[in-house]
Amino acid sequence: MNTIIEDLLNNQVKYEAQASMQYLAMAAWADTKGYGGVANFFYKQSEEERQHMTKLLKFINERGGKVVVPSLEKPTADFDSLIALFDKFLSSEIFVTEQINKVIFECLQQKDYNVHNFMQWYVAEQLEEEATARTLLDKLNIIGDNTSGYYLFDRDIEGFTAEETTLE
Ligand code: FEO
Repeated sequence: MNTIIEDLLNNQVKYEAQASMQYLAMAAWADTKGYGGVANFFYKQSEEERQHMTKLLKFINERGGKVVVPSLEKPTADFDSLIALFDKFLSSEIFVTEQINKVIFECLQQKDYNVHNFMQWYVAEQLEEEATARTLLDKLNIIGDNTSGYYLFDRDIEGFTAEETTLE
């Protein structure tokens, strides 16, 4: 495997793992604040990011590359509000998208069309996740500081899936 691409894919393993840990910390914060629905949402997001990480890791192995399981930075664990929490969610997803775009760019430079093709799944996934984060943040901004609105948000997020925000 091209070593430039191998390094970028290993970096991406780290970013997906970092997102998984960040969402776990966010779920724990929401749980302690009594937002059970928000907590469940982030437990699920954390699990999804872990799957994104594992999918990459297996791909590197299948292609004969060397996987480097990364050490991680401590995630942000405290938030001033639900808006701050979802702001972090959106900025985390935007960061991951930017990193994926770097991989895609380098795949084209290196003419590695196999990895380019594999990464398209991540491009589609990021589109969905960014849309989800933006939709939820928009809802919270409409609610403002109306605390009964937080109650309804926490209740309604239980049934929320990424498919609801998929762009047509
Ligand atoms: Fe797998 Fe949303 O980054």
